[in-house]
Amino acid sequence: MKADLLAAIGGADLARLEDIRVFALGKSGRVTALLKTLGGMSPEERQAKGPVIHGLREAVTEALASRKASLEREALDARLAGETLDMTLPADVPASGTVHPVSQVMDELAEIFADLGFAVATGPEIETDWYNFTALNIPETHPARAMHDTFYVDPTSTEREIVDQWAKAPPMVLRTHTSPVQIRAMQAAGGDTPIRIIAPGRTYRSDSDATHTPMFHQVEGLVIDKGITLGHLKWTLETFLKAFFERDDIVLRLRPSYFPFTEPSAEVDVGYSIVNDKRVIGGSGGGNGGGWMEVLGSGMVHRKVIAAGGYDPDQWQGFAFGCGIDRLAMLKYGMDDLRAFFDGDVRWLKHYGFSGLDVPTLSGGVGA
Ligand code: PHE
Repeated sequence: MKADLLAAIGGADLARLEDIRVFALGKSGRVTALLKTLGGMSPEERQAKGPVIHGLREAVTEALASRKASLEREALDARLAGETLDMTLPADVPASGTVHPVSQVMDELAEIFADLGFAVATGPEIETDWYNFTALNIPETHPARAMHDTFYVDPTSTEREIVDQWAKAPPMVLRTHTSPVQIRAMQAAGGDTPIRIIAPGRTYRSDSDATHTPMFHQVEGLVIDKGITLGHLKWTLETFLKAFFERDDIVLRLRPSYFPFTEPSAEVDVGYSIVNDKRVIGGSGGGNGGGWMEVLGSGMVHRKVIAAGGYDPDQWQGFAFGCGIDRLAMLKYGMDDLRAFFDGDVRWLKHYGFSGLDVPTLSGGVGA
């Protein structure tokens, strides 16, 4: 029996080894049965056969253990041999995200204006009617409210309830521009210190086509101080646009315009030239096929707005401007459909996104 068992163990695999263990040493195994016979033997017989039977059990137990150990070692060796690393294979570079062009441009704006002494301010995207309109000299009956295609945050359901709600207090709105941050910044500054801020952020209007999305981005600029003139506004915008488009030949045209919150107001156009049949910001503005492109709205802050912000308009003046960030990004980086900005298409992001190492920015980090 010993020879048979040892031979079987010697040629068994791991599964078979367990079968043999049960067959020999299990509850009703062969070796177990022999051990049980010891109880019925005479002392002499037991003395003679005991060591043989115990020796058999030990030999089988030991053979099972050593076969198991060697099978496991073989399996491990085989795995190690199969898993060797081929150091000549190309590295598996982990997929990494990109900085969205809007984030990139916001960072560029923050950096350019930081150099001019501007801090970054923020305000809520769900605004009160007062901050979004009234404080900016857009009273309830003003036609500019209709122009803004406002999204109202409507807590009511029936027409009757809406009318009642308006009677109590106008509903909250999704801010239609970043201009309410002008008022918040003035209030926060307390009415007696100069202000220089930009306020980049999301804005909302009920509008959608290739150049309009219901959510878009603006950056607001506000300077409040004593003795501020249109000259300061023009210099600031010129300096900003030269830095942003990375060109010294930027030409500006201030076109008289109207905004309720600035007086006088000016729409600002930037000159473009034609290079290889494409419009490129910089130079021209007229002649050689070039022209003007509208980039922002601006003006001297209206006395009523200065007062609404808690400043004395006889002492303090200021200028403000507002500019579409998405439009700036499109002009600088040559994208043509605004809607792609918000589709989240990974292919588009791979093409237009920034690796984070390209340019050292706030979103991208300082790079390698
Ligand atoms: N808020 C204006 C808009 O959204 C832009 C603007 C800002 C104009 C500040 C003048 C001054 O169109």
